[in-house]
Amino acid sequence: MTEAKRLAGEKAIDYIEDGMIVGVGTGSTVAYFIDALGRIKERIKGAVSSSEQSTARLKALGIEVLDLNATGPLALYVDGADECDPHKRLIKGGGAALTREKIIAEASAKFVCIVDPAKRVDVLGKFPLPVEVVPMARSLVAREILGMTRAQPVWRENVVTDNGNWILDIHGLAITDPVALETAINQIPGVVSVGLFARRPADVVIVGGEPPIVL
Ligand code: 5RP
Repeated sequence: MTEAKRLAGEKAIDYIEDGMIVGVGTGSTVAYFIDALGRIKERIKGAVSSSEQSTARLKALGIEVLDLNATGPLALYVDGADECDPHKRLIKGGGAALTREKIIAEASAKFVCIVDPAKRVDVLGKFPLPVEVVPMARSLVAREILGMTRAQPVWRENVVTDNGNWILDIHGLAITDPVALETAINQIPGVVSVGLFARRPADVVIVGGEPPIVL
């Protein structure tokens, strides 16, 4: 899958326009995108980063990292996913960066999602759905989600997000109405964000391969 991730990440460079500020996601597929971005860095103004991990990689390549509050709306966001359905709705947050990823996706006119073929599914939910929670609300949120879905929330112990919060992974879902589930989980007090990207799905999905497939 490493080669497929590289091919997807490099293909996303096609969406770069001169002078852009690029929204940059998180993960191993995005790492290939960042490396490719480094090779054409003179063409862009900078990047808005979704995690400390991506910020470090961008800076190491000499790409300026800008504050979303200063840049305003972005033209392009490039990020990976843990699952992608035929409507380009996603599960994200395997790398615990879902909240900042969701903020940048919302702020961006075009969201290009880069995946390897194993990420494509008909129904979202085999990959445990990440939910970022304020630490004191962990068991409250877990109980509410269990009551709502009968699926099993598991605390991702020893992980603290870049925002100082915790992650619950919801095992055993088959998400037939992703917009409804995203909305319902968002209503629970203590939820910071849920790793379902259905209200704002990807606009373009690049599936890494030889050649890459653009959906
Ligand atoms: C991080 C994410 C990643 O995009 C997702 O986990 C995919 O990662 P990878 O490209 O390493 O398979 O949502 O929070």
